[in-house]
Amino acid sequence: MSESNGTITVAAIGDLHVTETSVRPYAALFAEISEKADVLVLCGDLTNFGKTKEAEILAEDLRSATIPVVGVLGNHDYECGQPEKVAEILCQAGMRLLDEQAIVVEGVGFAGTKGFIGGFGRGELAPFGEGEIKAFVDVAANEARKLENALRSLRTERSVAVLHYAPIAETLEGEPIEIFPYLGSARLADAIDRFENVRAVVHGHAHHGRYEGRTMRGTPVYNCAQFVVRPQFGRPYALLEV
Ligand SMILES: [Fe+2]
Ligand SMILES: [Fe+2]
Repeated sequence: MSESNGTITVAAIGDLHVTETSVRPYAALFAEISEKADVLVLCGDLTNFGKTKEAEILAEDLRSATIPVVGVLGNHDYECGQPEKVAEILCQAGMRLLDEQAIVVEGVGFAGTKGFIGGFGRGELAPFGEGEIKAFVDVAANEARKLENALRSLRTERSVAVLHYAPIAETLEGEPIEIFPYLGSARLADAIDRFENVRAVVHGHAHHGRYEGRTMRGTPVYNCAQFVVRPQFGRPYALLEV
């Protein structure tokens, strides 16, 4: 919980993948996290297929959280073509969706977007040639633009960037290198590195990736996919002092 030096404790977990047959999958965990942290951050893939029933099951469990909950959706939450519906159900249960709109909790800013694929370094897809390629790259660029605008709107001394897709390749290590371009986009890190008040970046999506990395500027990045965090800490969520 909050330290006397003014930091807050941020709990972050991604890739909950709630299914229709899940029974109170996160109620106990959210109650536990509420005892240990000041804010809970959900890093996308909250549902397994973006079904209404899945979102309703998670929404029920969100009522066990007694601290502010902020989050972004993941690609799985889009699978049924109704991400707005999934978001609405979760927001009605108290989650605050970080997309375009940044949020301040106890003096710390939170800005986020789902992000998109597109690759890193020499593997980054460029908007050249066919219209389809340009449209594809435009989606990735737009996600980065939304993140940058949300971060810019924050006047806080400390901010946290929240994503589903990875902004750097380092936290993907452990995944097959062939699929790195489908796990994130360097454009997201380019946006983050324009700001000096970003103290941490959290993301999910790469279930077999690595927990920790850094942007070019040196800002710490944490892959908070629960399957990455659990082997590291014996619990499925990360705890960060910000
Ligand atoms: Fe996932
Ligand atoms: Fe994902």
